[in-house]
Order: sequence, then C-alpha cells, then structure tokens
Amino acid sequence: MGEETHAEKANGEVVSESSVKYYTLEEIKSHNMCKDTWLVIHDKVYDITCFLEEHPGGEEVLLEQAGADATESFEDVGHSIDAREMLEQYLVGEVHMDDRRKDCTQDTFITTSGEASSWTMWFIPVLAAAVFGLMYRYYTLEQQSS
Ligand code: HEM
Repeated sequence: MGEETHAEKANGEVVSESSVKYYTLEEIKSHNMCKDTWLVIHDKVYDITCFLEEHPGGEEVLLEQAGADATESFEDVGHSIDAREMLEQYLVGEVHMDDRRKDCTQDTFITTSGEASSWTMWFIPVLAAAVFGLMYRYYTLEQQSS
C-alpha cells in the first residue's frame, strides 16, 4: 500500500510515481549559486533563487547555506509562522529517502531533558522535606528551652 517506485535520472534527480519529486543530496548540492539557489529545510527542498533579495535577514545568510541543509540555521533564528508559511511557495520537492539524516540529535535532546526533569522531580521534595525537618527541630528546641 502506498509503495513508490523510484527511477533515477542521469542528473541525479529521482522521480517517483507520486507527485512529489525526490532529489539526491548530490543534485541539491549543484544548486549553490546566486542565480540558482536551493535549500533543504526539514528534508524538503526549496528553490529560493527569486527570494534571495526579498529575505529580511539578507541574502548572504541564504547563500552561505546554498545547496545544503539549512534546517539548523533556519530554526536557530526562530522564524515566525509567516516565514514558515512562505516556504510553501518555494517548495520543489523532498530529499531522497536514502539521503535523509537520522535525527539522533532530537532523540538525545528528548532523553536528556527527560533525565533533567526526573532529577528535579525527586530533588525538590527531598529539599523541601529537609528544610521542613530543620524548621520543626528548631521550633521544638525553642519551645523546650523557654
Ligand atoms: C527559504 C527559507 C527562508 C524563509 C522563507 C525566510 C523568511 C524570513 C522572514 C519572513 C524573516 C522576517 C522575520 C520572521 O518573520 O521570522 C526572516 C528573518 C531572518 N532570517 Fe530568514 N528565511 C529563510 C531562511 C533563512 C535561513 C536559512 C537563515 C539563516 C542562515 C535565515 C536567517 C534569517 C535572519 C538572520 C533573519 C533576521 C532576524 C531578525 O532580524 O530578527 N533565514 N527570514
């Protein structure tokens, strides 16, 4: 069900039977000039040639990433929802399945943040109990001495 067959053209472009076009990283890399600029963001391929001059963040930052995966830099800037919606109009296809990066950084991030939250989950009650215990002791000693 939903299986796609892919045929690779001589220029590296991979055409699937569905309407989505798949491109290899090799093919994407060749679109790295100011007159022909492609970018990859979240495994989607964008032809941003005519957007270079319009980009509010300047064309230099886009040209630095030309022909490559710009997901990290795009996310680092914290682009608005409007900026994300703008992407749609430049979409030309997707990165070929074999060339997609395994998102292990995200896994590590989730694991690390999970560990951090479980650590605080036991540390805060223990600290609160210790403070409460000390206060109680101080209070009872005060009353005994008076
Ligand atoms: C095709 C992809 C991109 C689109 C459609 C896009 C769109 C936009 C838009 C609309 C803004 C205005 C602020 C906002 O609405 O968030 C913006 C700002 C900016 N963008 Fe992009 N951008 C793209 C890719 C990138 C990439 C790959 C980088 C970094 C290498 C980048 C760096 C910046 C910077 C530095 C600003 C200025 C932020 C500021 O002054 O606060 N953009 N972009």
